[in-house]
Amino acid sequence: MPNSFHSPWWKSAVVYQVYPRSFADANGDGVGDLAGLITRLDHLQRLGVDALWLSPIYPSPMCDAGYDICDYTDVDPLFGSLADLDELIAQAHERGLKVLLDFVPNHTSDQHPWFIESRASRDNPRRDWYIWRDQPNNWRASIEGGSAWTWDETSQQYYLHFFLPQQPDLNWHHPQVVAAMHQVLHFWLARGVDGFRVDVVHCVGKDQSFADDPRCLAGEPMVKINDQPYSHEVLRGLRRLVDSYPGDRVLIGEVNIRSTARVAAYYGASDELHMSFNFPPLDAPWDPVVLRMCIREVEADLGPLQAWPTWVLSNHDNSRHRSRYGGSLRRARAAAVMLLTLRGTPFIYQGEELGLEDTVVTARTRVDPGGRDGSRAPLPWTVQAPHGWGPTPWLPFAADADVLSVQAQESAADSTLALYRRLLACRRRSTALCLGDWEELPSHPQVLAYRRHHEADERLVCINFADSEHAFPLATPWRVEIASDGQGEGQPFSGRLDPEQALILCR
Ligand code: NOJ
Repeated sequence: MPNSFHSPWWKSAVVYQVYPRSFADANGDGVGDLAGLITRLDHLQRLGVDALWLSPIYPSPMCDAGYDICDYTDVDPLFGSLADLDELIAQAHERGLKVLLDFVPNHTSDQHPWFIESRASRDNPRRDWYIWRDQPNNWRASIEGGSAWTWDETSQQYYLHFFLPQQPDLNWHHPQVVAAMHQVLHFWLARGVDGFRVDVVHCVGKDQSFADDPRCLAGEPMVKINDQPYSHEVLRGLRRLVDSYPGDRVLIGEVNIRSTARVAAYYGASDELHMSFNFPPLDAPWDPVVLRMCIREVEADLGPLQAWPTWVLSNHDNSRHRSRYGGSLRRARAAAVMLLTLRGTPFIYQGEELGLEDTVVTARTRVDPGGRDGSRAPLPWTVQAPHGWGPTPWLPFAADADVLSVQAQESAADSTLALYRRLLACRRRSTALCLGDWEELPSHPQVLAYRRHHEADERLVCINFADSEHAFPLATPWRVEIASDGQGEGQPFSGRLDPEQALILCR
């Protein structure tokens, strides 16, 4: 039974992030494409995920790998065509997979016709669709750093950009911008997409006094600190729009503020985001003290609001969790048990089901101006190089691409891919894991242990962070349902955890 049996589907779902440039290459040009993704939907169905989120596939000059959009309602020829996207949505839906697109409301490309008009002259009707000033303030940009303002020779003013100069910020305080962006959402919702991951949505409202921010003096970019009441008003409008469509369409926001309490505010009174990303666990090292704190904060800050949490260990902007945990596959596998058993919706970043590490990028192979290429390497499908890709993939493969390839792991019972499949199947069997309460259990400080519980269904999860064995004694008999290293599954639980081992226990 699919997890989407539960209502709304996204609470019990597992979402898989597809980074289209690096997922699968059908035309052999070394860049992933939609046709490639369609041919690999079987992999995702066998893995057992419920939804795909696609990083941007829209026409773009690709200064920020597609997060610089010059047409919100089309597909870049690099990835295929609108017809390919329709085909993807149809084929995914046939398999019971939901499709989420990346909606990037904060900024366009500087090649978007709106910005070309806006910068043409000060009296252009679209001038105020973007944010122009005679004098810059001290706000700082992200990706390359430096000022968030760039001087425009033609019209003799500065424009605002929280990211690259090629990504001017839209002025959401202008009603025509709001209306135009609502049309974008209508376009995709009518085409059948099931929702959106919304890029840096906490950035759309801007402090209209444009005062200097003292935190920028300390080097903080605006993306980490911008937090304005108007963003909430924008979100309420987006939520009303999305909720007017049938089928529980969903808005998942990227709120990149490193405070779970602040992130909680973006759920509103159940009238803003359905779910928000929460970044502290994505930065966390392999450390039970730090991770325990992250989890307690989520339960304390989101729980009372009935705000449904999300869990993410890796994505296209950050080091893969295996690399963050010192390159240890054993730790990465134990962390997967945690990711898929906490209370909330887990997000798997493509390739973590293979145990990939970051690829090593040199000055010669570097593509991203922000230096985030490490986690963006192509997925190795076959054992033999070039691993199912055209002869020159756009980034080098991560280490051990042959032994970590899908083909190599496909039928190996002890592979990381097999572990992820078992974990996802286990979630499907258990309403406690999908929807149940979360309660921390007393344990050694190096062991994180919790109980998930829903009606008659119950699971215990215990994760040993230490490189030595630890006892986790229980008063009643339990059975090992899943072990991160595959050891002892189906056997009675011995009361001991091996080094860096995580277990799911059932009655
Ligand atoms: C967050 C995205 O995840 C990142 O890749 C991008 O550079 C910025 N937002 C700007 O769109």
